[in-house]
Amino acid sequence: MKDILEKLDLRRREAHLGGGQKRIDAQHARGKLTARERIDLLLDRGSFEEFDMFVQHRCVDFGMQDSKVPGDGVVTGWGTVNGRTVFVFAKDFTVFGGSLSETHAAKINKIQDMALKMRAPIIGLFDAGGARIQEGVAALGGYGEVFKRNVIASGVIPQISLIMGPCAGGDVYSPAMTDFIFMVRDTSYMFVTGPDVVKTVTNETVTAEELGGAKVHTSRSSVADGAWDNDLEALLQLRRLIDFLPANNTDGVPVWESFDVAERVDTSLDTLIPDNPNKPYDMKELILKTVDEADFFEIQEAYARNIITGFGRIEGRTVGIVANQPMVLAGVLDSDASRKAARFVRFCDSFEIPIISFVDVPGFLPGTAQEYGGLIKHGAKLLYAYSEATVPLVTVITRKAFGGAYDVMASKHIGADINYAWPTAQIAVMGAKGAVEIIFRQDMNDPEKIAASTAEYEQRFLSPFVAAERGYIDEVIMPHSTRRRLARALAMLAHKQAERPWKKHDNIPL
Ligand code: HXC
Repeated sequence: MKDILEKLDLRRREAHLGGGQKRIDAQHARGKLTARERIDLLLDRGSFEEFDMFVQHRCVDFGMQDSKVPGDGVVTGWGTVNGRTVFVFAKDFTVFGGSLSETHAAKINKIQDMALKMRAPIIGLFDAGGARIQEGVAALGGYGEVFKRNVIASGVIPQISLIMGPCAGGDVYSPAMTDFIFMVRDTSYMFVTGPDVVKTVTNETVTAEELGGAKVHTSRSSVADGAWDNDLEALLQLRRLIDFLPANNTDGVPVWESFDVAERVDTSLDTLIPDNPNKPYDMKELILKTVDEADFFEIQEAYARNIITGFGRIEGRTVGIVANQPMVLAGVLDSDASRKAARFVRFCDSFEIPIISFVDVPGFLPGTAQEYGGLIKHGAKLLYAYSEATVPLVTVITRKAFGGAYDVMASKHIGADINYAWPTAQIAVMGAKGAVEIIFRQDMNDPEKIAASTAEYEQRFLSPFVAAERGYIDEVIMPHSTRRRLARALAMLAHKQAERPWKKHDNIPL
C-alpha cells in the first residue's frame, strides 16, 4: 500500500514539474509565474481541485511519442473565489509552449462542460502559442470544440480570459469569444500570428509589443478590456472582478455586506457642474461618490475614454455604470464609444445586472472620419443594446442631452424605467448657438436679434423642464441626493418583469 501511495506522490510531483525545472526557471526569469502558481493566487487558499493531471497527448508524428508530459500543457479544475465556485484552466507555457493538442482541448472541454452544467463562471489563464503544430488538423478540431462551447456558454455563465504570456492563433480566438479579456503589461501579447510570420508574409518588421502588447489592445484595438503590471496584480484584480459578477444569467447579482449607507448625501455634487456649459468636469467623481465605498471596477478604461463603463455596487448589489465623460472630447458619442458601451450594456443585460446611465452628451461626433468609419452602424449598436435591455435601467442627466444622443443614452422612450435630471440638465435637439444659426438664419446680420433669440432659446430649451413637463423625465433631483434616489429606484425595480416577443435571436447591427 505504502508503495502505491508513494507512486502516486511521485507521479503528482512529476506532473507538477510540467516542462521541467529549466523551463520553469525560464518562465520566472521572464517575470511570469507558472500555471499552478497562478491558479493558487487566483483561487481561495487550498480550494483548487485538479482534473486530468495525468492526461497525455497521443501524437506519434515528428517524434512526439518520445516526449510526453503529464497534463499535456494545461492545468484544469475548479475552486472558489471568496467562497463562490469558479472553473479554471491555465495554459502551461513550459509544455510545448502551452500549445493545444487534441487531448489538451478535451481537458478544456471537460471544464467548459462542467462550468456550464454547474452554472458557474469559467476563467482561462492564457500563455500559449495556439494549435500544436505537430498535431495538425487534430489540434484545429480541438479548437473548434473549444470555440463552439464558448458560444453555447455565452450569456449563460461569465467567461473571462486573462492573457499572461505570448498568445497566438486559437489562444487569442478563444479569448475573443469570451466576455472579458485582460492582459499583463510587458509580458503578454496577443496576435493571430507572431512577428516572424508577419515579416515573412507582409515584409513588415514589428516587435511583439508593437504588434499585440497590452498598450495596443487596451487603447487602440479594444481587443482587451484592461491590463495590469504583473501576474500577481492581475490575478488579485480578477478576484475583485469575480466578486462583482453573477454566477450565471439566472442567479442574480451577488449581494455583499455594504458599509456605506444608501441615504448618504454628498453636497459637493451640488457644485460639480461648472457655470460655463462648455467647461468639462470629471464624471468619475460622480461615479465614485455614488457607488458603495467608492469601489468602481472600470472596463476598457484606456479605450474611447469619452465614455466610461464599469461595475459598482449600490446597497451591496452590483450595478453596471455607463457614463459620458465630459473631460474627453466633451463626452461626445463616436463609433468607438458606441461600440464600447453597447458591448457593456449587452453583458449587463445578459446577466441581469441593472444599469445606471449618467448622461452629459453633446451629440454624435460629426465628420467624414466618423461617417466613413460607420458611425451610423456603430451608434446604432448602442441604441439597439439599450432598446433591447430588459434589466432595470435608471438614467440621470447631469448636463447636456442633445439630439439623437439624448434618445440613445437610456432615454425613457427606448425603455429606461426611471429618468432623473439634475437642475443643470439641458435637454434639446442641439445647443443654443447651432440652433439659433439654423432657425434664425435670416437674422444673422443683426447681432442684437441673434443675442435675444439665443437668450430665449437658452431660457426655454436648455433646462430639464420641457422634458419634465412631458413626463420624459420622472423628476428633477438635487445632485446631492443622487445616491439615495438611485438606491430607492433600484430597490423598487428589483423585481422588474419586461416581456419581449419570442424570437430565435435578434439581429444587432454588427
Ligand atoms: C508546438 C510550440 C508552439 C506551437 C510554441 N511552441 N508554439 N510547439 N506548437 N504552436 C514551442 C516552441 O517550439 C518552444 O519549444 C516553446 O514552445 C516556446 O516557444 P518559443 O518560440 O521559444 O517562445 P517565444 O519566443 O516566447 O514565442 C512564443 C510564440 C511563438 C510567440 C507563441 O512560439 C510562436 O509564434 N509560436 C507559433 C504560433 C502559431 O503560429 N501557432 C499556430 C496558430 S494556428 P522548445 O522545445 O524550444 O522550448 C491556430 C489555429 C486556431 O492556433 C484557429 C483559429 C481560428
